[in-house]
Amino acid sequence: MAQWQVFRAGVQVHPLGFVPTMGALHRGHLSLLEASKERNAFTVVSVFINPKQFDDNGDFVAYPVDCQKDLEQLEKASADVVLLPDARQIYADDYRFKVTESEFSQQLCGAHRPGHFDGVLTVVMRLLNLVQPDNAYFGEKDYQQLQLIRNMVAAFFMPVNIVACATVREADGLAMSSRNQRLDARQRKKAAVLYAALKQSKSAEQARATLQQQGFEVEYVEDIADRRLAATRLGNTRLIDNVQL
Ligand code: PAF
Repeated sequence: MAQWQVFRAGVQVHPLGFVPTMGALHRGHLSLLEASKERNAFTVVSVFINPKQFDDNGDFVAYPVDCQKDLEQLEKASADVVLLPDARQIYADDYRFKVTESEFSQQLCGAHRPGHFDGVLTVVMRLLNLVQPDNAYFGEKDYQQLQLIRNMVAAFFMPVNIVACATVREADGLAMSSRNQRLDARQRKKAAVLYAALKQSKSAEQARATLQQQGFEVEYVEDIADRRLAATRLGNTRLIDNVQL
């Protein structure tokens, strides 16, 4: 990463925006890039499928990869620079050093995906240190991730502003996600029920019951403060979403 650090030291532009991604870009990612371009003089996008945040190797292996298409989209959307590191560069220490949060990261998605948020926080810390942005952009779809990143940045006095961007949805309400590509036609149709159930149910319990009736395997539906959050599975595909109450 030394080469990158030399390059970064030469970029004396402010404000600098950063959009970290795991590739397989869709309109949700592009909305983060647009938000960054609106407010920053220079935008860096990273594409790195972080192996350390997959608790399930099958999910890692099946994660969609299309680097060529990602780069074409980023060029078209005028990203200034794309950072494409590989795992040996990011984890030259063999992941001996990591960021661990011991409370909120154990709940919701963390309760079902051991080690997931350690992987997320560790890679985000490393990427923020490499890119040194003024502003970094994250989607509200991964709501728990967003809160944990905000908390980490505050806890470690990191000089970056975390900007949350609204979830981008398909016409039927399904939140955009790279994993949606893995749904077959029947599952894709059904997937729209997730958002509708979260929004329309009177309680988390009612949303859970609707989802189960419709054939979703429900990991959790919980109301926390002003948010209703859920994680479900349709076949082998894990779908998460959240709405404001
Ligand atoms: O939200 C994601 O795509 C990832 O969790 C992130 C923030 C890029 C870290 O790998």
